[in-house]
Amino acid sequence: MTPAAVAAVAAVALAAALAAAKEPAPRSIPERRIGLAKGGPEEVLVPAPVKENDSAPGDRPVRPRAFPGAPPVIPHGIADFLPITREANACVDCHGIAEKRKGEPTPIPASHYVDQRNAPEKRGERVAGARWSCTACHLPQHEVAPLVKN
Ligand code: HEC
Ligand code: HEC
Repeated sequence: MTPAAVAAVAAVALAAALAAAKEPAPRSIPERRIGLAKGGPEEVLVPAPVKENDSAPGDRPVRPRAFPGAPPVIPHGIADFLPITREANACVDCHGIAEKRKGEPTPIPASHYVDQRNAPEKRGERVAGARWSCTACHLPQHEVAPLVKN
């Protein structure tokens, strides 16, 4: 190469380097930060395991109602009391009592003994069929951190 050619190549290289230096870094949001989920859109995220509430009845205090008239949540574990079948209902065995005593289960309220469809004015002897499956309305509470902070 002649000295002139070397100088020309050097000049081109210098110009390219200067151009690259001036170019602003591309502005992009990493895909892991696009959504509220803690991962990229193509990942299948497995939620953190939940520790089941396995406390015995009476160990934990009752929780405040979500709103007046809301079904109270179950403060104790219920794994040992399921399933509820036509013949067996452990919830009724404990809660089907006449009056509240300190430290004892809260009695099933009068509303649960009323058959709203066939005899809405009368308190039945047994828990009404529509109320038999307690866990349709009452749910146990587990310690679960919110997936997304408020
Ligand atoms: C071994 C007895 C026992 C069994 C079985 C049982 N519970 Fe309880 N339950 C208790 C005790 C004791 C408490 C705490 C005292 C209280 O009721 O306020 C309680 C509390 C509750 C409360 C909270 C009441 C309130 O006023 O906030 C609900 C709701 C409840 N249980 C529903 C159920 C359901 C539904 C089942 C069946 C899946 C069930 N329980 C099975 C004994 C029992
Ligand atoms: C259709 C929904 C529903 C079903 C099913 C149901 N409940 Fe309830 N429960 C409620 C609501 C709503 C309340 C609060 C209003 C009231 O007292 O009627 C309540 C209140 C209660 C209370 C609190 C009473 C008090 O004096 O504080 C207990 C205990 C209870 N239910 C137990 C049970 C048990 C045990 C079963 C199953 C045999 C059951 N419930 C089935 C909706 C339901």
